[in-house]
Amino acid sequence: MVIANFDEILFKTLDVNKVIENTREWATQNEWDHQELVGHLKSWESMFTIKCDNKDMQTYELTANGKDALDNGSPEYRMFNDLPVDGVTMKEANEKYGSTAFGAAKNKGWVKVDKGKVVKNAETVEDVARKLLSNLSILEKKDIDALKKDKFVMEKKITYFTVSQGEKYNIRKKEVSDLTMDMLKNNSWKDETFKFNTLSMGTKPDSGFRHPLNKVKAEFKQIFIEMGFEEMPTSNYVENSFWNFDALFQPQQHPARDAHDTFFLSDPKTSHDFTDEHLEKVRKVHSEGGYGSWGWRYDWKLEEAEKNILRTHTTAVSSRMLYKLANQPGGFTPKKYFSVDRVFRNESLDATHLAEFHQVEGLVAGYDISLSNLIGIFSEFFKRLGIEDIQFKPAFNPYTEPSMEIFGVHSKLGRMELGNSGLFRPEMLLPLGLPEGVQVAAWGLSLERPTMIKYGLNTIRDIFGNNLNIEFIQSNPICMFPPTKTL
Ligand code: PHE
Repeated sequence: MVIANFDEILFKTLDVNKVIENTREWATQNEWDHQELVGHLKSWESMFTIKCDNKDMQTYELTANGKDALDNGSPEYRMFNDLPVDGVTMKEANEKYGSTAFGAAKNKGWVKVDKGKVVKNAETVEDVARKLLSNLSILEKKDIDALKKDKFVMEKKITYFTVSQGEKYNIRKKEVSDLTMDMLKNNSWKDETFKFNTLSMGTKPDSGFRHPLNKVKAEFKQIFIEMGFEEMPTSNYVENSFWNFDALFQPQQHPARDAHDTFFLSDPKTSHDFTDEHLEKVRKVHSEGGYGSWGWRYDWKLEEAEKNILRTHTTAVSSRMLYKLANQPGGFTPKKYFSVDRVFRNESLDATHLAEFHQVEGLVAGYDISLSNLIGIFSEFFKRLGIEDIQFKPAFNPYTEPSMEIFGVHSKLGRMELGNSGLFRPEMLLPLGLPEGVQVAAWGLSLERPTMIKYGLNTIRDIFGNNLNIEFIQSNPICMFPPTKTL
């Protein structure tokens, strides 16, 4: 603040006088800049500590002629003083002093025209205009009018304020414009008044909105990362059947590999990105058995494995990652992986099924891993989601043994399956090249179903697909776990 002790002076004045009639006068008395004074007043006014009433007043201001007359004398006065004793011709008078000066001097009776010559008509004269101009603020109306007529002054409207005590006059706390880390730490923000509204919900940004599924996805990722998992690359929607099924010890005549359950690609129809060694091991374990297993005992066909499909689960990615892990330089090291991405199934659609949905995939590869590790991981994972009432049920998967399904409760739809899991079978792990004794606990969860539970949605179509309500996308809250217990 440039005006020293302003607040003190302001409140002292208002305490005593209750009102400051005219801020311009007040500024002049104290030799303050009015503009600056108003700035300080306004900041108190915004807190209702004081009230400022805007008022207009008429004043007069010197014109350029007026300033010149004040500094150097009026033109008629200058003419009078300059006029030689024997006068000048009218032509000279007009040219030298200007017609206005000549006219005014003549009107005032200071000069006269005598025998064609302009001569003085008085001994001395008083420059009244100049005197008036130097006392502008105390002039009477008739004098002002005269100066206006001579174009020495012009009218000017100026504003000033009348200041009085505001409704919160006794609360003299300045609003704070920044919320600082310290205020948050020591809780002092609670006692501050902020220039912004801390309770406001804010306006909706004129921009894109995060889809609730993406919000939940981000939360899931965060939880996995906190639990020490690394993310798997899931950018390929197209897989061949080898990595999606065969490498997982899923027999070629399994109903899931039927066109009723899987989308096959017509172009390009096939692909082949696996080694002969791996292929041979897979062929053998399917058709003849091995590693202590009977196998499926059928005629395994490469053409079937080469068929391109839209991946039916992200376990295809897990099989690729496990292959990499087994065959990396330096050999296998224990790992925890996760991914959250899209999968495709040729399903009939209902409240909980779509042909395209998201899977939350995960695996823990290491030694001495058992079903209790899996139960431990799920209990922890879902607890962090705020979903505590989960249940497990024994299940069957071609590539896991033992296998177990995970269930949660939806407030309207009741118990619903959230995912499937198990320990990968040796018939899958050993052909991938993993050392004996390595176990892999793995799972595939739905992303949509926990999201439905969290947002209280009754059909999966409300969360994913072209039936979605845009208003819901724009107005859904941030997904925060653990929130209220819907489950
Ligand atoms: N792939 C299974 C599914 O799509 C889930 C799963 C993953 C089960 C890994 C066991 C192990 O339902």
